Amino acid sequence: MVANTKRILDLAENRLVVDDVTTGYLDHPAVRNVNLQVASGEVVALLGANGAGKTTLIKAVVGLLSAWEGSIYLNGEKASSPTFKRVRAGIGWLPDTRSIFMGLSVEENLRLGRGDKELALETFPELKPLLKRRGGVLSGGQQQMLAVARVLASRPQIVLADELSVGLAPQIVDRLLEELWRASRRGAAVLLVEQFARIALDVADRSYVLRRGELVFDGSATELLSRDISDLYL
Ligand SMILES: Nc1ncnc2c1ncn2[C@@H]1O[C@H](COP(=O)(O)OP(=O)(O)O)[C@@H](O)[C@H]1O
Ligand SMILES: [Mg+2]
Repeated sequence: MVANTKRILDLAENRLVVDDVTTGYLDHPAVRNVNLQVASGEVVALLGANGAGKTTLIKAVVGLLSAWEGSIYLNGEKASSPTFKRVRAGIGWLPDTRSIFMGLSVEENLRLGRGDKELALETFPELKPLLKRRGGVLSGGQQQMLAVARVLASRPQIVLADELSVGLAPQIVDRLLEELWRASRRGAAVLLVEQFARIALDVADRSYVLRRGELVFDGSATELLSRDISDLYL
């Protein structure tokens, strides 16, 4: 199996560039020499089995882990600021835990976001009848919808969605992905992290597959859909 993982440092074209990054925990490198790019207007899927290193890579992009080797470039600039500044500068991060305030109402959650409440409700009108309800009593799907609504309402230039489909019904996953896709058509660079290829490849333009910390596939979503990918998931 030959990985075609090109090192491309085209900072003008790509909003997100992961340039030859190695990082991990203590002395264990969980991702090794990864090269990945996402341009404005693209949905890119980052796939791989549980433990492949997907979340670790996202943590490096948002600045929770520093790169041991290589660099991360956001909107053409080498990233060095702490996570909260990266988020303020236009990174919409949806972590693998649902990022809402469970004790606050839907309305309060939207008001506390960096984006406009009305824009959030325009994107997901499904939330309108739930405004007074506390986050903690919503269904999993409604919670994730709230999380995505908050992030998209801030009009992020880069969206990082880490396994947002976990445990949710296919219908709701389709709705969430539809809005992430729309954000990309408005110019956002969207990186969609998923363990299950089919979900992400339905909306992705391109895809990468991580296997045990290394990229083993880099190509179009169509190409990946047309082949047997079980070997990439070992
Ligand atoms: N906080 C941590 N401390 C030590 N090792 C970790 C930690 N988080 C993840 N790992 C290890 O790093 C590797 C990649 O994990 P992760 O990035 O979470 O994979 P994925 O998101 O693809 O499921 C795994 O071997 C995992 O056990
Ligand atoms: Mg993960």
